[in-house]
Amino acid sequence: MALTLTKLLLFSFLVSSTILTAKSKLLTSKREKLTRFHVYMQEKISRSNATVVTVAQAATTNPSATSFGLVQVFDDALTVGPKMSLKNLGRVQGMMTFASQSEVALSMSMNFVFTEGRYNGSGLTIVGRNMLSLKVREMPIVGGTGLFRLARGYVHTITYSSDPNTGLLVLVYDFSVYHY
Ligand SMILES: *[C@@H]1O[C@H](CO)[C@@H](O)[C@H](O)[C@H]1NC(C)=O
Ligand SMILES: *[C@@H]1O[C@H](CO)[C@@H](O)[C@H](O)[C@H]1NC(C)=O
Repeated sequence: MALTLTKLLLFSFLVSSTILTAKSKLLTSKREKLTRFHVYMQEKISRSNATVVTVAQAATTNPSATSFGLVQVFDDALTVGPKMSLKNLGRVQGMMTFASQSEVALSMSMNFVFTEGRYNGSGLTIVGRNMLSLKVREMPIVGGTGLFRLARGYVHTITYSSDPNTGLLVLVYDFSVYHY
């Protein structure tokens, strides 16, 4: 009886010390760090080679002043600067829903997919509200993959240029992201 109790105590001590070691390794092996960078997103709105398409709308969307109910999907270029170059970083893919009846406000879910440069193979996911009347819009970064595992943070985005002749819309995204 006494022996069994001793064994049991020893066993539970071993288990808890293993768990403690594993936990402290996880906490000390890597420090969370803040990374800031800005990138450009280029959206072709024009009919030829458009990078954004309308996939759904309600019968009441057209008469709505805020395009309420419109759902669009995009696959835009992600670049280091405001112009297309050989140094394109990847794609920005996602969906936007015109989700307000009183102002033009989008509900966004988007993935920044890096296929070149320092973050090649990694990704960041943004989910949030994008109120177009604001000069600077803020949205939450809810996660990431690769170098951005366990990411959290926010982005500020502004419209850099909008050219009705070429149908090209260029946006700047300023990232402030915590990750390991
Ligand atoms: C559309 O894409 C094709 C193939 O990449 C290209 O040859 C053409 O010039 C593009 N058209 C416009 C208007 O950008
Ligand atoms: C990006 O990563 C992919 C997959 O690992 C690799 O095939 C490709 O060569 C890389 N591109 C650059 C520019 O490093």
